[in-house]
Amino acid sequence: MKTKFYITTPIYYPSGDAHIGHAYCTTICDILARNKRLRGFETRFLTGTDEHGQKIKEHAKKAGKETKAYVDEIVANFQKLWKLMEISNDDFIRTTEDRHIKVVQDLFSQMLKKEDIYLGEYKGWYCTECEAFWTDIQVGDSHLCPDCHRPVHEASEESYFFKCSKYVDQLLDEYKKNPKLCFPTSRMNEMINTFIKPGLQDLSVSRTSNDWGITVKENPKHTVYVWLDALANYISALGYPDGELYKKFWQDENTEIIHVIGADISRFHCIYWPMFLMSTGLRRPDRVFVHGLLRIKDEKMSKSKGNVVSPYPLVERYGVDAVRYYLAREVTFGRDGEFTPEQFVERINVDLANQLGNLLNRTVSMIDKYFNGEIPEFKSNVTKFDSEIENMIKASIKEYELNFDDLKITEGVTSAMNLVARANKYIDETAPWVLAKEGKTDELKSVMSHLANVLYVSSILLSPVLVHQSKNILDQLGIPESLRNYQSINKIGIIEKFKVKKGNQLFPRLDTKVEIEYIKWLMK
Ligand code: MSP
Repeated sequence: MKTKFYITTPIYYPSGDAHIGHAYCTTICDILARNKRLRGFETRFLTGTDEHGQKIKEHAKKAGKETKAYVDEIVANFQKLWKLMEISNDDFIRTTEDRHIKVVQDLFSQMLKKEDIYLGEYKGWYCTECEAFWTDIQVGDSHLCPDCHRPVHEASEESYFFKCSKYVDQLLDEYKKNPKLCFPTSRMNEMINTFIKPGLQDLSVSRTSNDWGITVKENPKHTVYVWLDALANYISALGYPDGELYKKFWQDENTEIIHVIGADISRFHCIYWPMFLMSTGLRRPDRVFVHGLLRIKDEKMSKSKGNVVSPYPLVERYGVDAVRYYLAREVTFGRDGEFTPEQFVERINVDLANQLGNLLNRTVSMIDKYFNGEIPEFKSNVTKFDSEIENMIKASIKEYELNFDDLKITEGVTSAMNLVARANKYIDETAPWVLAKEGKTDELKSVMSHLANVLYVSSILLSPVLVHQSKNILDQLGIPESLRNYQSINKIGIIEKFKVKKGNQLFPRLDTKVEIEYIKWLMK
């Protein structure tokens, strides 16, 4: 297994405020990055903003602002949101930074020199919104953009082209060798059937009609096409070509490289990006993971549709951990999901308040009551359930790791939560209050120490998601710093003799009716 890990989010357009759809992708990547760091992988996590293009210039104009000042403001808002959401990115790349611009120009020059890029004339159907040219077949009779379904118009301009045809066979071959180059498989099939099989045209990679972009050094009336510009962020941020981070996290085969993206931008990441890397002789990522979209009432959330949900009021009212948990647990990673106030409230109440919160409450209260606040010594095989609980702890850790390594985040979180649910059932099965009444002290001790151990393991497993409350659990159990790490949770039974201390409630139970109304009001 590779020991280093490089994970990236898409870089976002600073053309409006970030909504919960953006927060979804960034939070998931953050959870993955935190999971890997927790488990001892050397990890690099990148996010950023994609700031060039005609569209952004137009947005700035509409807002009556100078373009750079306009993007600076929105970028600051993105950064504020990531701070609020406890996003642990190691770097934030902006495509207007010099360190990025020089890399894009360098890549373009290399491809030009190699004659993978040539000068020609582009005639076709242009979608201003997507900044993409489309063919007759692609726009059909409706003359609508196949991506965003807005009207396209005929346009022609001098343009540089990238020779896609030269790399098609190699790309298909790499798809075969590494099915994760575009994952899930349905997405790869979509690439092959929708874009490659009908005949992939050479890609226009420069514009003369857009001056808010990176200049082509060899022909300054052209700017580099926004997607070639944007994709390069994944290596410019590492200091390509000779930066230490680039050597460590891109060149070194011991690093697993993962791009996480939304379904709407898979064509660029699964077709053109690998081709640009082939042309410049650079390593391809290990995985491009295409996640689904978070929708509202069956519609894609988007600024233009005016149906966006802002993460700010949710985080303010329910706490960052609850929002992070909802995003990781509710929307199966890889599939589309719908944001509904009902499910949001239910997730918090059922999983976090009833299951996790209750388990902690009951455990700490009982240890207080029966053993003066001290977690009893750990012993196996005292009650008939003990070995099952111990085996489940071990199995849950294993399952959690396998799920996370396969980017099955929803399932990974579920592995931890199933353990919590099992422990709640264990309380009902062993009925500690009866054991106390009957004076069965050994059994009572064993139940308490097993419960404390389950809580300890679960809180560490959940710590990439519940960045605050996992600490709260460990504090209430009185776990010393030296055991707050991943290595220790594999030593079943080391939680004993610590002094518990009742603290703040993890997740107060929400009044379903009131909160659903409140979130509905937010969505109006
Ligand atoms: N700038 C490009 C990406 C360049 S990456 C080299 C872009 N930006 S974007 O801001 O429009 O979208 C960024 C990401 O947010 C995309 O992966 C997109 O799928 C994701 N999402 C936007 N709305 C979303 C939802 N409603 N749900 C989930 N993800 C969503 O595209």
